[in-house]
Amino acid sequence: MSDRKKVILPTLFKKVANQEPITWLTCYDFPTGYLQDQAGIDMILVGDSLGMTMLGYESTLPVTMEDMIRHTQAVRRGAPHVFLVGDMPYMSYQPSVETAIRNAGRFMAEAGCDAIKLEGGAEMADRIHGIVCSGIPAIGHLGLTPQSVSALGGFRVQGKGALQAKKIMDDAKALEQAGAFMILLEMVPDRVCKLITERADNCIIMSLGSGPHAHGQLLIYHDMFGLYPRFKPRMAKQFGDAGKVILDGLKQYADEVTTKTFPQPENWFGMPDEEYDELTRLLE
Ligand code: KIV
Repeated sequence: MSDRKKVILPTLFKKVANQEPITWLTCYDFPTGYLQDQAGIDMILVGDSLGMTMLGYESTLPVTMEDMIRHTQAVRRGAPHVFLVGDMPYMSYQPSVETAIRNAGRFMAEAGCDAIKLEGGAEMADRIHGIVCSGIPAIGHLGLTPQSVSALGGFRVQGKGALQAKKIMDDAKALEQAGAFMILLEMVPDRVCKLITERADNCIIMSLGSGPHAHGQLLIYHDMFGLYPRFKPRMAKQFGDAGKVILDGLKQYADEVTTKTFPQPENWFGMPDEEYDELTRLLE
């Protein structure tokens, strides 16, 4: 994969035109970024979910721009070929269009992002417009938007009722008209996602728990590999149990140190006999 070509905006639109689904995962660190790049993943989201998955907060709200920039820089170093998306954290874009543009610019200039993502519908259209007018590709995020989890009444499906579904569809159009090149639908019913995808004109629709009809899929990396201990969302398929592999290894390490079977000679460094003899002479 080292001769891999960099994924750029036209690559994504070409995939849509060829009806090839786009692959997108969250990622927060250098080694995981390296593996995802090697695996040929198209896009990485350095999500503010890092507040929960990496920093152990109960929600994404305490995450700062400094947290996001630091993690995004690390991912970019590991994954130079992927299309890298920085997730605007809580209150980095809500206060004003100017705040939104400044912070979106930081993701591009300081962390090497290809685009930014922010949460919210028509009420955030002016932020999207301002960011896009500044030359920064922008992605909208509708449905379950974790920064509004309190207002939404918890982590639950959004748009099950016709009125709420219509609102999500109107929001999607508003974001598209504001210039978003992509919209992520999180935990929206599959049929609503299908309608939005069919009605999108020049906007790529991505699904997180919103069914198969979108132009591509996003998953949270930690859910895929059993790495988040607090809960496992129903929509997340587990593709491996890295958590168990690591836990078993840790227990074995503790056991081998305790029983003195680790380390073995291949795990340490020796010294030539003559040097050791000289050393003991020096110590006399
Ligand atoms: O922060 C994040 O990882 C996200 C996903 C839940 C879409 O925004």
